[in-house]
Amino acid sequence: MNLFLTCPPGLEPVLAQEAEALGLPGPKPEAGGIVIHGHWNTVYKANLWLRGATRVLIRMSAFRAMTLGQLEARLAKVDWERFIGPDVPVRVEASCKGSRLHHGGAVGTRVQEAVRQGTGAPIAEQAEGALRLFARIDDNLCTLSLDTSGALLHRRGHKQFTGKAPLRETLAALFLRACGYDGTEPVLDPLCGSGTVPIEAAEIALGLAPGRDRSFGFEQLPGHDPARWAAIREDGRRRETPDSALRFDGRDRDAGAITGARGNAERAGVTAITRFEQGAVSALAPPPEGIPGLIFINPPYGGRIGKVGALKPLYASIGQVLTERFQGWRVGMITTDAGLAKATGLPFAPPSAPIPHGGLRIKLWQTEPLG
Ligand SMILES: C[S@@+](CC[C@H](N)C(=O)[O-])C[C@H]1O[C@@H](n2cnc3c(N)ncnc32)[C@H](O)[C@@H]1O
Repeated sequence: MNLFLTCPPGLEPVLAQEAEALGLPGPKPEAGGIVIHGHWNTVYKANLWLRGATRVLIRMSAFRAMTLGQLEARLAKVDWERFIGPDVPVRVEASCKGSRLHHGGAVGTRVQEAVRQGTGAPIAEQAEGALRLFARIDDNLCTLSLDTSGALLHRRGHKQFTGKAPLRETLAALFLRACGYDGTEPVLDPLCGSGTVPIEAAEIALGLAPGRDRSFGFEQLPGHDPARWAAIREDGRRRETPDSALRFDGRDRDAGAITGARGNAERAGVTAITRFEQGAVSALAPPPEGIPGLIFINPPYGGRIGKVGALKPLYASIGQVLTERFQGWRVGMITTDAGLAKATGLPFAPPSAPIPHGGLRIKLWQTEPLG
Protein backbone atom coordinates (compact mmCIF):
# COMPACT_ATOMS: atom_id res chain seq x y z
CA MET A 1 0.00 0.00 0.00
CA ASN A 2 0.97 3.59 -0.61
CA LEU A 3 0.75 5.46 2.69
CA PHE A 4 0.79 9.22 3.25
CA LEU A 5 1.61 10.37 6.78
CA THR A 6 0.65 14.00 7.30
CA CYS A 7 2.40 16.65 9.42
CA PRO A 8 2.54 20.47 9.54
CA PRO A 9 4.32 21.91 6.48
CA GLY A 10 7.97 22.65 7.27
CA LEU A 11 8.40 19.62 9.52
CA GLU A 12 8.36 16.89 6.83
CA PRO A 13 12.12 16.15 7.08
CA VAL A 14 11.81 15.74 10.87
CA LEU A 15 8.93 13.27 10.46
CA ALA A 16 10.94 11.44 7.78
CA GLN A 17 13.82 11.08 10.27
CA GLU A 18 11.45 9.70 12.88
CA ALA A 19 9.96 7.19 10.42
CA GLU A 20 13.44 6.11 9.40
CA ALA A 21 14.48 5.63 13.04
CA LEU A 22 11.38 3.47 13.55
CA GLY A 23 12.43 1.27 10.62
CA LEU A 24 9.55 2.30 8.37
CA PRO A 25 10.59 1.69 4.76
CA GLY A 26 12.11 4.56 2.68
CA PRO A 27 10.14 7.63 3.85
CA LYS A 28 9.99 10.37 1.19
CA PRO A 29 9.06 13.92 2.24
CA GLU A 30 6.31 15.59 0.18
CA ALA A 31 4.43 18.83 0.87
CA GLY A 32 2.50 18.30 4.12
CA GLY A 33 3.80 14.84 4.98
CA ILE A 34 5.83 11.80 3.99
CA VAL A 35 5.14 8.87 1.70
CA ILE A 36 6.00 5.30 2.67
CA HIS A 37 5.07 1.92 1.23
CA GLY A 38 3.95 -0.94 3.41
CA HIS A 39 1.41 -3.52 4.54
CA TRP A 40 -1.10 -3.60 7.38
CA ASN A 41 1.73 -4.02 9.87
CA THR A 42 3.13 -0.69 8.65
CA VAL A 43 -0.27 0.98 9.15
CA TYR A 44 -0.41 -0.41 12.71
CA LYS A 45 3.17 0.54 13.51
CA ALA A 46 2.93 4.07 12.05
CA ASN A 47 -0.28 4.85 13.96
CA LEU A 48 0.92 3.33 17.22
CA TRP A 49 4.52 4.56 17.29
CA LEU A 50 4.98 7.73 15.27
CA ARG A 51 4.94 10.74 17.58
CA GLY A 52 5.06 13.39 14.87
CA ALA A 53 2.44 12.26 12.34
CA THR A 54 -0.98 13.96 12.34
CA ARG A 55 -2.74 11.15 10.42
CA VAL A 56 -1.87 7.98 8.53
CA LEU A 57 -3.70 7.78 5.19
CA ILE A 58 -3.89 4.94 2.67
CA ARG A 59 -3.63 6.38 -0.83
CA MET A 60 -6.24 4.17 -2.46
CA SER A 61 -6.04 5.57 -5.97
CA ALA A 62 -4.69 8.49 -8.01
CA PHE A 63 -5.80 9.40 -11.54
CA ARG A 64 -6.24 12.38 -13.82
CA ALA A 65 -9.74 13.79 -14.28
CA MET A 66 -10.70 17.00 -16.11
CA THR A 67 -14.47 16.49 -16.34
CA LEU A 68 -17.16 15.02 -14.10
CA GLY A 69 -17.65 12.28 -16.73
CA GLN A 70 -13.97 11.25 -16.51
CA LEU A 71 -14.16 11.37 -12.72
CA GLU A 72 -17.23 9.10 -12.63
CA ALA A 73 -15.63 6.62 -15.04
CA ARG A 74 -12.45 6.37 -12.94
CA LEU A 75 -14.33 6.19 -9.65
CA ALA A 76 -16.32 3.21 -10.99
CA LYS A 77 -13.02 1.30 -11.44
CA VAL A 78 -11.75 1.79 -7.86
CA ASP A 79 -11.54 -1.41 -5.78
CA TRP A 80 -13.62 0.07 -2.95
CA GLU A 81 -14.39 -3.21 -1.20
CA ARG A 82 -10.71 -3.87 -0.56
CA PHE A 83 -10.70 -1.06 2.01
CA ILE A 84 -14.27 -0.14 2.91
CA GLY A 85 -16.80 -2.56 4.41
CA PRO A 86 -20.60 -2.25 4.09
CA ASP A 87 -21.32 -1.41 7.75
CA VAL A 88 -19.25 1.62 8.72
CA PRO A 89 -20.53 5.09 7.72
CA VAL A 90 -18.15 6.93 5.41
CA ARG A 91 -17.62 10.68 5.46
CA VAL A 92 -16.31 12.08 2.17
CA GLU A 93 -14.31 15.34 2.22
CA ALA A 94 -13.54 16.73 -1.24
CA SER A 95 -11.36 19.68 -2.24
CA CYS A 96 -10.11 21.10 -5.54
CA LYS A 97 -7.13 23.31 -6.29
CA GLY A 98 -5.77 24.67 -9.59
CA SER A 99 -7.89 22.20 -11.60
CA ARG A 100 -10.58 22.14 -14.31
CA LEU A 101 -12.82 20.45 -11.74
CA HIS A 102 -13.12 23.26 -9.22
CA HIS A 103 -16.30 22.55 -7.28
CA GLY A 104 -15.56 20.39 -4.22
CA GLY A 105 -19.28 19.81 -3.61
CA ALA A 106 -19.85 18.28 -7.06
CA VAL A 107 -16.75 16.08 -6.74
CA GLY A 108 -17.81 14.97 -3.24
CA THR A 109 -21.26 13.92 -4.46
CA ARG A 110 -19.71 11.74 -7.23
CA VAL A 111 -17.33 10.10 -4.75
CA GLN A 112 -20.17 9.43 -2.29
CA GLU A 113 -22.21 7.80 -5.04
CA ALA A 114 -19.26 5.61 -6.09
CA VAL A 115 -18.67 4.52 -2.46
CA ARG A 116 -22.35 3.68 -2.02
CA GLN A 117 -22.44 1.64 -5.20
CA GLY A 118 -19.08 -0.04 -4.61
CA THR A 119 -19.57 -1.04 -0.96
CA GLY A 120 -23.15 -0.37 0.20
CA ALA A 121 -21.70 1.70 3.06
CA PRO A 122 -23.90 4.53 4.39
CA ILE A 123 -22.68 8.11 3.85
CA ALA A 124 -22.20 10.11 7.06
CA GLU A 125 -22.88 13.84 7.39
CA GLN A 126 -20.75 14.12 10.56
CA ALA A 127 -17.08 13.15 10.87
CA GLU A 128 -17.61 11.76 14.41
CA GLY A 129 -17.49 7.94 14.39
CA ALA A 130 -17.26 7.79 10.58
CA LEU A 131 -14.48 6.54 8.35
CA ARG A 132 -13.01 9.53 6.51
CA LEU A 133 -12.28 9.47 2.81
CA PHE A 134 -10.45 12.46 1.33
CA ALA A 135 -10.85 13.23 -2.38
CA ARG A 136 -8.36 15.88 -3.39
CA ILE A 137 -8.02 17.25 -6.90
CA ASP A 138 -4.81 19.19 -7.39
CA ASP A 139 -3.58 20.26 -10.84
CA ASN A 140 -6.20 17.89 -12.38
CA LEU A 141 -4.84 14.89 -10.44
CA CYS A 142 -7.44 13.26 -8.19
CA THR A 143 -6.10 11.43 -5.12
CA LEU A 144 -8.37 9.29 -2.94
CA SER A 145 -7.02 8.78 0.58
CA LEU A 146 -8.59 6.75 3.35
CA ASP A 147 -7.91 7.76 6.94
CA THR A 148 -6.64 4.93 9.16
CA SER A 149 -6.11 7.03 12.30
CA GLY A 150 -9.62 8.12 13.33
CA ALA A 151 -9.15 10.90 15.90
CA LEU A 152 -6.05 12.99 15.07
CA LEU A 153 -2.89 11.34 16.36
CA HIS A 154 -2.03 14.11 18.86
CA ARG A 155 -4.99 12.80 20.84
CA ARG A 156 -3.05 10.23 22.82
CA GLY A 157 -5.86 9.94 25.38
CA HIS A 158 -3.96 11.27 28.42
CA LYS A 159 -4.15 15.08 28.18
CA GLN A 160 -7.55 15.76 29.73
CA PHE A 161 -6.36 19.12 31.11
CA THR A 162 -5.36 21.41 28.24
CA GLY A 163 -4.80 24.88 29.75
CA LYS A 164 -4.95 28.08 27.73
CA ALA A 165 -2.78 27.63 24.64
CA PRO A 166 -1.65 24.00 24.61
CA LEU A 167 0.90 22.69 22.17
CA ARG A 168 -0.18 19.60 20.25
CA GLU A 169 1.69 16.49 21.37
CA THR A 170 2.67 15.78 17.74
CA LEU A 171 4.27 19.22 17.38
CA ALA A 172 6.01 18.91 20.76
CA ALA A 173 7.51 15.58 19.65
CA LEU A 174 8.71 16.98 16.31
CA PHE A 175 10.28 20.02 17.98
CA LEU A 176 12.01 17.82 20.57
CA ARG A 177 13.45 15.71 17.75
CA ALA A 178 14.47 18.85 15.82
CA CYS A 179 16.35 19.92 18.99
CA GLY A 180 18.28 16.63 18.93
CA TYR A 181 16.46 15.13 21.93
CA ASP A 182 16.67 11.33 21.88
CA GLY A 183 15.43 10.32 25.34
CA THR A 184 18.78 10.31 27.10
CA GLU A 185 18.98 13.79 28.67
CA PRO A 186 16.81 15.81 31.05
CA VAL A 187 14.25 18.24 29.63
CA LEU A 188 12.96 21.31 31.45
CA ASP A 189 10.04 23.48 30.34
CA PRO A 190 9.86 26.67 32.47
CA LEU A 191 6.44 27.68 31.01
CA CYS A 192 4.96 24.20 30.76
CA GLY A 193 1.19 24.92 30.84
CA SER A 194 -0.49 21.51 30.58
CA GLY A 195 2.90 19.74 30.65
CA THR A 196 2.91 18.61 27.01
CA VAL A 197 6.68 18.85 26.50
CA PRO A 198 7.97 17.18 29.71
CA ILE A 199 5.36 14.40 29.37
CA GLU A 200 6.24 13.78 25.73
CA ALA A 201 9.96 13.76 26.58
CA ALA A 202 9.39 11.35 29.50
CA GLU A 203 7.40 8.95 27.30
CA ILE A 204 10.23 8.97 24.76
CA ALA A 205 12.76 8.18 27.53
CA LEU A 206 10.58 5.27 28.68
CA GLY A 207 10.15 3.94 25.13
CA LEU A 208 6.36 4.07 25.38
CA ALA A 209 4.27 4.07 22.20
CA PRO A 210 2.22 7.29 21.99
CA GLY A 211 -0.90 5.46 20.75
CA ARG A 212 -0.86 2.70 23.37
CA ASP A 213 -4.09 3.78 25.10
CA ARG A 214 -6.35 4.90 22.24
CA SER A 215 -8.37 3.39 19.42
CA PHE A 216 -7.80 3.92 15.69
CA GLY A 217 -9.84 4.22 12.51
CA PHE A 218 -8.20 1.11 10.99
CA GLU A 219 -10.04 -1.05 13.55
CA GLN A 220 -13.14 -0.48 11.36
CA LEU A 221 -11.55 -1.56 8.06
CA PRO A 222 -12.26 -4.95 6.46
CA GLY A 223 -8.55 -5.91 6.24
CA HIS A 224 -8.02 -5.35 9.99
CA ASP A 225 -6.53 -8.30 11.93
CA PRO A 226 -7.44 -7.84 15.65
CA ALA A 227 -5.10 -10.58 16.93
CA ARG A 228 -2.08 -9.19 15.11
CA TRP A 229 -2.94 -5.66 16.25
CA ALA A 230 -3.31 -6.76 19.91
CA ALA A 231 0.21 -8.23 19.85
CA ILE A 232 1.73 -5.12 18.23
CA ARG A 233 -0.03 -2.81 20.71
CA GLU A 234 1.09 -4.84 23.73
CA ASP A 235 4.64 -4.25 22.63
CA GLY A 236 4.01 -0.50 22.75
CA ARG A 237 3.07 -0.66 26.44
CA ARG A 238 6.32 -2.20 27.60
CA ARG A 239 8.47 0.44 29.27
CA GLU A 240 12.21 0.71 29.46
CA THR A 241 14.11 1.82 32.54
CA PRO A 242 15.76 5.16 31.83
CA ASP A 243 18.90 6.40 33.53
CA SER A 244 17.92 6.86 37.19
CA ALA A 245 19.11 10.50 37.20
CA LEU A 246 16.84 11.45 34.32
CA ARG A 247 14.01 13.85 35.23
CA PHE A 248 11.53 15.83 33.13
CA ASP A 249 10.59 19.10 34.75
CA GLY A 250 7.79 21.53 34.20
CA ARG A 251 7.27 24.91 35.88
CA ASP A 252 4.52 27.44 35.44
CA ARG A 253 3.42 30.40 37.49
CA ASP A 254 -0.19 29.24 37.19
CA ALA A 255 -1.12 26.79 39.99
CA GLY A 256 -4.03 25.39 37.95
CA ALA A 257 -1.68 24.50 35.10
CA ILE A 258 0.61 22.62 37.49
CA THR A 259 -2.27 20.59 38.98
CA GLY A 260 -3.52 19.86 35.46
CA ALA A 261 -0.06 18.85 34.20
CA ARG A 262 0.37 16.44 37.13
CA GLY A 263 -2.97 14.81 36.25
CA ASN A 264 -1.94 14.50 32.61
CA ALA A 265 1.39 12.92 33.64
CA GLU A 266 -0.39 10.44 35.89
CA ARG A 267 -2.75 9.34 33.12
CA ALA A 268 0.25 8.93 30.80
CA GLY A 269 2.01 6.78 33.42
CA VAL A 270 5.10 9.00 33.68
CA THR A 271 4.70 10.41 37.22
CA ALA A 272 7.86 8.65 38.49
CA ILE A 273 10.17 10.63 36.20
CA THR A 274 8.30 13.94 35.83
CA ARG A 275 8.15 16.84 38.29
CA PHE A 276 5.76 19.78 38.01
CA GLU A 277 6.16 22.74 40.37
CA GLN A 278 4.60 26.16 40.53
CA GLY A 279 7.02 29.04 40.01
CA ALA A 280 7.72 32.14 37.95
CA VAL A 281 10.56 32.24 35.42
CA SER A 282 12.40 34.76 37.62
CA ALA A 283 12.70 32.11 40.37
CA LEU A 284 13.84 29.31 38.03
CA ALA A 285 16.86 27.24 39.07
CA PRO A 286 18.44 24.13 37.49
CA PRO A 287 17.15 20.78 38.82
CA PRO A 288 19.18 19.33 41.75
CA GLU A 289 20.55 16.37 39.74
CA GLY A 290 22.81 18.88 37.99
CA ILE A 291 23.05 17.13 34.61
CA PRO A 292 22.54 19.70 31.86
CA GLY A 293 20.08 18.87 29.09
CA LEU A 294 17.49 20.64 26.98
CA ILE A 295 15.35 23.60 27.99
CA PHE A 296 12.30 23.80 25.75
CA ILE A 297 10.17 26.93 25.88
CA ASN A 298 6.78 27.71 24.35
CA PRO A 299 6.13 31.22 25.73
CA PRO A 300 2.98 33.25 25.04
CA TYR A 301 3.32 34.75 21.51
CA GLY A 302 1.12 37.77 21.69
CA GLY A 303 -0.45 37.01 18.32
CA ARG A 304 -2.20 40.32 17.65
CA ILE A 305 -0.14 43.45 16.98
CA GLY A 306 0.23 45.52 20.12
CA LYS A 307 0.52 42.58 22.51
CA VAL A 308 3.96 41.61 21.20
CA GLY A 309 5.62 44.64 22.83
CA ALA A 310 4.05 43.81 26.18
CA LEU A 311 5.74 40.39 26.11
CA LYS A 312 9.28 41.68 25.62
CA PRO A 313 10.02 41.91 29.38
CA LEU A 314 9.01 38.22 29.83
CA TYR A 315 11.31 37.14 26.99
CA ALA A 316 14.13 39.32 28.37
CA SER A 317 13.68 37.76 31.80
CA ILE A 318 13.76 34.23 30.31
CA GLY A 319 17.02 35.07 28.53
CA GLN A 320 18.62 36.61 31.61
CA VAL A 321 17.74 33.69 33.92
CA LEU A 322 18.95 31.07 31.44
CA THR A 323 22.19 32.94 30.69
CA GLU A 324 23.00 33.40 34.39
CA ARG A 325 21.95 30.00 35.82
CA PHE A 326 21.91 27.33 33.08
CA GLN A 327 25.46 26.82 31.83
CA GLY A 328 25.74 23.69 29.69
CA TRP A 329 22.01 23.55 28.83
CA ARG A 330 20.79 23.90 25.23
CA VAL A 331 17.72 26.02 24.55
CA GLY A 332 14.92 25.38 22.04
CA MET A 333 12.24 28.05 21.84
CA ILE A 334 9.23 28.50 19.57
CA THR A 335 7.76 31.90 18.90
CA THR A 336 6.06 33.88 16.14
CA ASP A 337 8.13 37.01 16.33
CA ALA A 338 11.86 37.46 15.63
CA GLY A 339 11.86 40.59 17.83
CA LEU A 340 10.67 38.54 20.81
CA ALA A 341 13.32 35.87 20.19
CA LYS A 342 15.97 38.62 20.03
CA ALA A 343 14.65 40.17 23.26
CA THR A 344 15.95 37.10 25.15
CA GLY A 345 19.53 38.04 24.22
CA LEU A 346 20.21 34.29 23.85
CA PRO A 347 22.77 33.21 21.19
CA PHE A 348 20.25 31.63 18.80
CA ALA A 349 21.32 30.13 15.46
CA PRO A 350 19.16 31.19 12.46
CA PRO A 351 15.60 29.88 13.06
CA SER A 352 13.70 27.10 11.29
CA ALA A 353 11.29 27.69 8.40
CA PRO A 354 7.90 29.03 9.59
CA ILE A 355 5.47 26.33 10.70
CA PRO A 356 1.69 26.91 10.77
CA HIS A 357 0.26 26.51 14.27
CA GLY A 358 -3.21 27.56 15.41
CA GLY A 359 -3.57 30.24 12.70
CA LEU A 360 -0.07 31.64 13.41
CA ARG A 361 3.34 30.90 11.92
CA ILE A 362 5.92 29.87 14.48
CA LYS A 363 9.65 29.28 14.14
CA LEU A 364 11.97 27.13 16.21
CA TRP A 365 14.99 28.95 17.62
CA GLN A 366 17.91 26.94 19.05
CA THR A 367 21.17 27.56 20.87
CA GLU A 368 24.27 25.43 21.40
CA PRO A 369 24.96 24.54 25.07
CA LEU A 370 25.13 27.86 26.97
CA GLY A 371 28.62 28.92 28.02
C1 LIG B 1 1.76 29.11 25.54
S1 LIG B 1 1.52 28.58 27.19
C2 LIG B 1 2.42 27.05 27.23
C3 LIG B 1 1.60 25.89 26.76
C4 LIG B 1 2.23 24.55 26.96
N1 LIG B 1 3.36 24.34 26.06
C5 LIG B 1 1.18 23.44 26.81
O1 LIG B 1 1.35 22.59 25.91
O2 LIG B 1 0.19 23.46 27.51
C6 LIG B 1 2.51 29.65 28.12
C7 LIG B 1 2.53 29.40 29.62
O3 LIG B 1 3.44 30.30 30.22
C8 LIG B 1 2.99 30.57 31.54
N2 LIG B 1 3.68 31.81 31.99
C9 LIG B 1 3.53 33.07 31.49
N3 LIG B 1 4.37 33.93 32.13
C10 LIG B 1 5.08 33.19 33.03
C11 LIG B 1 6.11 33.49 33.98
N4 LIG B 1 6.59 34.72 34.12
N5 LIG B 1 6.61 32.47 34.73
C12 LIG B 1 6.14 31.20 34.58
N6 LIG B 1 5.16 30.87 33.72
C13 LIG B 1 4.64 31.85 32.95
C14 LIG B 1 1.49 30.67 31.39
O4 LIG B 1 0.84 30.42 32.64
C15 LIG B 1 1.20 29.58 30.32
O5 LIG B 1 0.81 28.39 30.94
